[in-house]
Amino acid sequence: MRKKIVAGNWKMNKNLEEGQALASEVKHMAEDELSGDVQLIMCTPFIHLSTLKGLLKGSAIGLGAQNCSEHESGAYTGETSVDMLKSVGVEYVILGHSERREYFNESNELLAKKLDTTLKSQLTPIFCCGEPLEIREKEEQNKYVQQQIEESLFHLSAEEVSKVVIAYEPIWAIGTGKTASAEQAQEMHAVIRKQLEGKYGKEVADSISILYGGSVKPANAKEIFAGEDVDGGLIGGASLKSRDFIDIAKSF
Ligand code: PGA
Repeated sequence: MRKKIVAGNWKMNKNLEEGQALASEVKHMAEDELSGDVQLIMCTPFIHLSTLKGLLKGSAIGLGAQNCSEHESGAYTGETSVDMLKSVGVEYVILGHSERREYFNESNELLAKKLDTTLKSQLTPIFCCGEPLEIREKEEQNKYVQQQIEESLFHLSAEEVSKVVIAYEPIWAIGTGKTASAEQAQEMHAVIRKQLEGKYGKEVADSISILYGGSVKPANAKEIFAGEDVDGGLIGGASLKSRDFIDIAKSF
């Protein structure tokens, strides 16, 4: 059975005080309203992680970062290492979000290195892939996403790749209010799973959680999550409101 996951990506939002308030609301609502078969994760700004780890003590909510360095340590001013993340109790790291690919020039090759560093330290990567609008308009999205996966993941062993969570996020649906239809999401998730099966076999492919991301809200989550190969969501905007985030997790 694949894990069902709802992960919030706070991006560069909320100062520490606001972040503590949000995390504490989510924690209490999750305790009162969720049954525990969905893994909730909050991926917050680096600077909040240590404090939020304390705040989330005793709760089943996972804590994630939104990026990490491909290097283990050294003279890389401004960077954050996996060891630093581990040392404050972080369990997940988003890698290859489209905003990092676009604004910080993260390539498939660099992400392959970040995946290695992350897996080596026993953190769980949430690897993002997804096509821009012009690729979707040319109907070349499958090839585009398959190439992202091949170039960043396919050097991993079956054991390593089984530890990766994949998030399919069509760029044209991120923060735009425009969601992929449930059919479009399921279609791409099935393409990704088939590709993983071709390389690693059915058992491994069936064990990997594939999340959908891009304007997921309480109003559309149920329909999107109904897809056979859709194992949850990576939630941006709606993860900044505790009520919406919890309602999305309740949509399974
Ligand atoms: P959104 O962001 O839910 O605000 O569209 C999703 C993401 O970027 O991970």
